[in-house]
Amino acid sequence: MLPVHLQFPIRGGDFHSAGEASSGMKKALSKLGVDPSAVKRASVAMYEAEINAVIHAGGGEADVEIFADRVSIVIRDHGPGIPDVGLAMQEGWSTAPDAAREMGFGAGMGLPNIQRNADDLTIDTRVGEGTALTILVRFHRPAPTAPGPEA
Ligand SMILES: Nc1ncnc2c1ncn2[C@@H]1O[C@H](COP(=O)(O)OP(=O)(O)OP(=O)(O)O)[C@@H](O)[C@H]1O
Ligand SMILES: [Mg+2]
Repeated sequence: MLPVHLQFPIRGGDFHSAGEASSGMKKALSKLGVDPSAVKRASVAMYEAEINAVIHAGGGEADVEIFADRVSIVIRDHGPGIPDVGLAMQEGWSTAPDAAREMGFGAGMGLPNIQRNADDLTIDTRVGEGTALTILVRFHRPAPTAPGPEA
């Protein structure tokens, strides 16, 4: 049963489908019986990374591995990269374009929010090549490994 491996495409600039990957992962975690607080932290962190790939990087893909005690989420894009990660991690710092601001994004809170919700965050970025975020969220109690009647 575990680990479960999920992959999702992330379409660049598409605000309508933005969030589909993180909601797909959220459903999978809930179905596996993962504790709700960990489901929430993983979903919030993945949503912010997914939206960043949509807004700042022309899209990418999400790779999710669910183990009994943790979920590992990789959001990868082939966008412009982040020239100064320290600056990007600061609350309120944003280069979001007007189109994204009109949709309510661009507060510069996404990366700090990912950091807060993740047990571990790795940012691998190269200017001109792209960015990969690896987000780890640990579960407070192990996910039940035996599939339920509907699983
Ligand atoms: N995948 C990415 N590719 C390139 N640049 C990125 C990426 N993710 C973040 N950034 C850069 O880091 C900045 C800060 O990101 P963060 O998510 O904290 O804020 P935001 O996306 O601008 O606004 P918010 O998340 O509050 O809507 C972005 O404005 C952008 O310059
Ligand atoms: Mg953001």
